[in-house]
Amino acid sequence: MPTHKLLLLPGDGIGPEVMAEVKKLIAWMNARGLGQFETEEGLVGGAAYDVHGVAITEATMAQAMAADAVIFGAVGGPRWNAAPYDARPEAGLLRLRKDLGLFANLRPAICYPALASSSSLKREVVDGLDIVIVRELTGGVYFGEPKTIMDLGNGQKRAIDTQVYDTYEIERIARVGFELARTRRNKLTSMDKRNVMKTGVLWHEVVNQVHAREFKDVELEHQLADAGAMQLVRWPKQFDVIVTDNLFGDVLSDVAAMLTGSLGMLPSASLGEIDAKTKKRRALYEPVHGSAPDIAGKGLANPIAMLASFAMALRYSFAMGREADLVEQAIAAALAAGLRTHDIKSEGTTAVGTTAMGSAVLQELDRLAAG
Ligand code: IPM
Ligand code: MG
Repeated sequence: MPTHKLLLLPGDGIGPEVMAEVKKLIAWMNARGLGQFETEEGLVGGAAYDVHGVAITEATMAQAMAADAVIFGAVGGPRWNAAPYDARPEAGLLRLRKDLGLFANLRPAICYPALASSSSLKREVVDGLDIVIVRELTGGVYFGEPKTIMDLGNGQKRAIDTQVYDTYEIERIARVGFELARTRRNKLTSMDKRNVMKTGVLWHEVVNQVHAREFKDVELEHQLADAGAMQLVRWPKQFDVIVTDNLFGDVLSDVAAMLTGSLGMLPSASLGEIDAKTKKRRALYEPVHGSAPDIAGKGLANPIAMLASFAMALRYSFAMGREADLVEQAIAAALAAGLRTHDIKSEGTTAVGTTAMGSAVLQELDRLAAG
């Protein structure tokens, strides 16, 4: 059995609390002989800033480069509002994405039947929902230059962010979307703002070209990103896979999260190019929810998005689809048994904290693995 090297970066806020549940899961898998994982741990975000004055050190970056997968918690919080822009907690995450070349961010939004009533939308709108947002992650306005605030000298300042996309960046993310759609319900919806933005015009054109050249068998549709946001809350089941740019993907995936009942449910995988020689790809797995400083340290956080992110690591980095299925089934079973963290609590269910939810998932895993 191959040994897989993981770098754990718990980060800030609820990050360390939800990461603790992944550590339990890793230990369980190692003990059961279901996998052979070696872990290292590092600081990122505010946690790194407090100790080193930067959001991630060069040494931690080197560890991330050498790892088979990075498992990431969350970064940020009001404590670091005064940190310099380049050392703000989020800079650590953005550097990891950029330097590891993690251009493809997969954000599946699945509404577990047990949670259909936790969503703020009507049950019939979300029950059984299963869609994936494919977000471009290393380009667009997040990284475009110039990115600056300048003094105009007349009492005015000017802030500039640059939205920029090259053909190859759109091609490779479109391919990820089409390929994923092929393994699912074979439909891809591309979202852009070509009615206002040049990047949208190119996005639309290149997605059409990739479709015509390589993926004629996949149904392709286009929506303007604002209309797409509206359709996401009106009737999300019309979608299978959505592909969109970095900023629209950021916003749309928070919307999609609420379709599943809670932001605490959404996992994500950030993937790089497959290396032609080694057939491996760099990857980072993180929950979409962020550091939730309001509930940090209280043992209230929902560990499911973090555990499901680890399941995505099993699937996409280690070809352990069967084990990934098991983890996802164990999560569904713990929910079906009526256990809920406070973010997904509803009448007639049992409120539990982070560690109890993590242990319940492990117990279900024990049961499933034995069966
Ligand atoms: C996300 C987050 C990040 C982003 C922040 C923490 C930089 O919101 O992963 O969705 O904007 O990409
Ligand atoms: Mg976001």
